[in-house]
Amino acid sequence: MKRILFLFLSMLGASLASQAQTAAAPAAGDDQMTKFYLVVGFIFVVSILVLIVLIYLLTVIRALADSAARDRAEKLGIAYKPEPSMWSKFWTSINGFVPEEKEATLVLDHNYDGIKELDNHLPPWWKALFYGAIVWGILYLLAYHVFNSFPLSKSEYDSEVAAANAELQKIKAANPGPKIDEATVTVTTDAADLANGKTTFLNTCASCHRKDGGGDIGPNLTDEYWKHGGDIKNLFHVVTNGVPGTNMVAWGAVMSPEAIRNVASYVLTLQGSKPANGKKPEGDLYKPEVKAAEPAKADSVKTQSSL
Ligand code: HEC
Repeated sequence: MKRILFLFLSMLGASLASQAQTAAAPAAGDDQMTKFYLVVGFIFVVSILVLIVLIYLLTVIRALADSAARDRAEKLGIAYKPEPSMWSKFWTSINGFVPEEKEATLVLDHNYDGIKELDNHLPPWWKALFYGAIVWGILYLLAYHVFNSFPLSKSEYDSEVAAANAELQKIKAANPGPKIDEATVTVTTDAADLANGKTTFLNTCASCHRKDGGGDIGPNLTDEYWKHGGDIKNLFHVVTNGVPGTNMVAWGAVMSPEAIRNVASYVLTLQGSKPANGKKPEGDLYKPEVKAAEPAKADSVKTQSSL
């Protein structure tokens, strides 16, 4: 018993020490927390030690009292009957055991071939749990669903998500992504960005390039012919700076680089859409570099198959 206690205590000590270590590991701001854990741990260990000493003393006192009672009984010449221990009294009372000599009061009045049945009560601890659970259930219902004193899991979750989103917005506002300019711009394939680009196109560009990009005052933006190049960087340049002396103005004055990237990416999605009555191609045929490399590949395939 003592060995088990010792083992338990040393395990407790070790876990407290490791907890103190993990608490001490983070930045100096957690110093206060470490101290708090150490104090709580110390109080915990001391109270357990005190409890053990108390139990030990009680056992000793009990043993002394027992032997004194036995001596007295011997002197008086009466049979010594030891008092039941506190534990066994407690055990009897929480289980509501009916002593064997009173069993007759519990026998039910049926008798099957000599088999009789005792009508034992449910143990008090069980009944306490049962009624306690009912009371708890009523209190819970009132607190959570009638008076709404505490938030339900769903609203707790929602408010946590809202707080996290607010935090995210703050972080995003503090760190705007990489700067977009002519040198760094790339095509965006993000659905939200493209939807945003489409809105811009319909509101700002469609009056000259037509809703479907087929071209009107401005050129057809759906074919492979471009006056100023068909790369995302070319489009970004043209839309930002406009084409002096034409109706294509410098949109960089009124649109953010991100919005220009979005609308230019959207324009590129119109490639090959061949809208009806599109304007005739203007400018030069533009082949993206990736496509330019393809014929060589096709050639090598051809030579292989012709072998
Ligand atoms: C007021 C009419 C007008 C509006 C509005 C307009 N454009 Fe243009 N756009 C033109 C004209 C005209 C040209 C041809 C310029 C030239 O001759 O080089 C052009 C050229 C272009 C080109 C280059 C085409 C090529 O062949 O190289 C792109 C890309 C373009 N516009 C995109 C846009 C976008 C995106 C918007 C909306 C933000 C827009 N335009 C709004 C009139 C307009």
